[in-house]
Amino acid sequence: MLVLGIESSCDETGLAVYSEKDGLLGHLVNSQVDLFTEYGGVIPEIAARDHSVKIIHILKQLLTKSKLDVSDISLVAYTAGPGLIGSLMIGETVAKTISAILDKELLPINHLEGHILAPALEDSEIKPPYLCLLVSGGHTQIIECKDYGEYQILGETIDDACGEAFDKVGKLLGLEYPGGPKVSKLAENGNPHRFNFPRAMLKDRSLDFSFSGLKTAVLYALEDLNEKDYPDVAASFQEAVIDVLLHKLNWAIEDTGIKTLVCSGGVAANTILRDRLKRMADERSLSVSYPSIEFCTDNAAMIAFAGYVRKKYNLRSYNTSFARPRWPLGELYD
Ligand code: KG4
Ligand code: ZN
Repeated sequence: MLVLGIESSCDETGLAVYSEKDGLLGHLVNSQVDLFTEYGGVIPEIAARDHSVKIIHILKQLLTKSKLDVSDISLVAYTAGPGLIGSLMIGETVAKTISAILDKELLPINHLEGHILAPALEDSEIKPPYLCLLVSGGHTQIIECKDYGEYQILGETIDDACGEAFDKVGKLLGLEYPGGPKVSKLAENGNPHRFNFPRAMLKDRSLDFSFSGLKTAVLYALEDLNEKDYPDVAASFQEAVIDVLLHKLNWAIEDTGIKTLVCSGGVAANTILRDRLKRMADERSLSVSYPSIEFCTDNAAMIAFAGYVRKKYNLRSYNTSFARPRWPLGELYD
């Protein structure tokens, strides 16, 4: 089985090939991030146009690099949602065209399933059941992965996603979009204990998150500060986010008894989060894994892998094939 993966849900154009026998044969990602620095965020129409301009070129590059012909592919797995509709439809149209012309199987994949399975891409020992802390620009969720294709959301953000909070605080600190990596870089020289920013929703033992108050607290704190304080603000903000993530993950561990953790999504690239998770896991005899940095942020390798898993375990496919901007994980088969 040779799976072509296509990812175009937001501002990364990704193509990948995953082989049942040899694993990942190659993957390429074009990030559009430079297009959006001047706007401070993704502009959906520009994102869709850029996918359209680049996607075939990247596909050809990938096939050449992997010494494959498109006819070698047996299955086309593509991100059908959630995401930006214009962006999704570019990937979907390419996927459907290859599938129709070459008579290859087509498998729409939920982007979140890609992130949930991503840690297993490089480590075949990682198998369900496990708890996934999914932290990205669009999502913040604790998911119980009971089995392949069986996911239960135990908690999620009720407002901003945690990557979004990083990006908004980055903007407040005068950093370019996307702020996450830059805030964490700035935090390296800051004191994480100088400001006691709010840790929301820790009283009622809910596994849901809220990050919008934290962003507002940073905004107010900045009124009385100047630039030399920014590293402390960044570090204290980051500390507050990570405290809440770990606190809730701990509750999820207690509630489910699951001792295997994975962390994925763009914010899983954060080294302090990775270190603190690892420390927590070591202290409590748990195991924790994260994808390597290149597979934390959006990529097609995780989509190809999810396609491989769904085919291998004969999971029911999403049968009405059209891109869905909103596609809750709990509705995998609607
Ligand atoms: O998974 P991803 O590439 O796209 C979505 O599906 O959203 O995640 C992107 C998000 C952005 O909000 C970015 O600021 C954040 O991940 N991010 C980070 C770091 N690297 C990326 N946040 C905190 N620390 C980082 N090192
Ligand atoms: Zn993502």
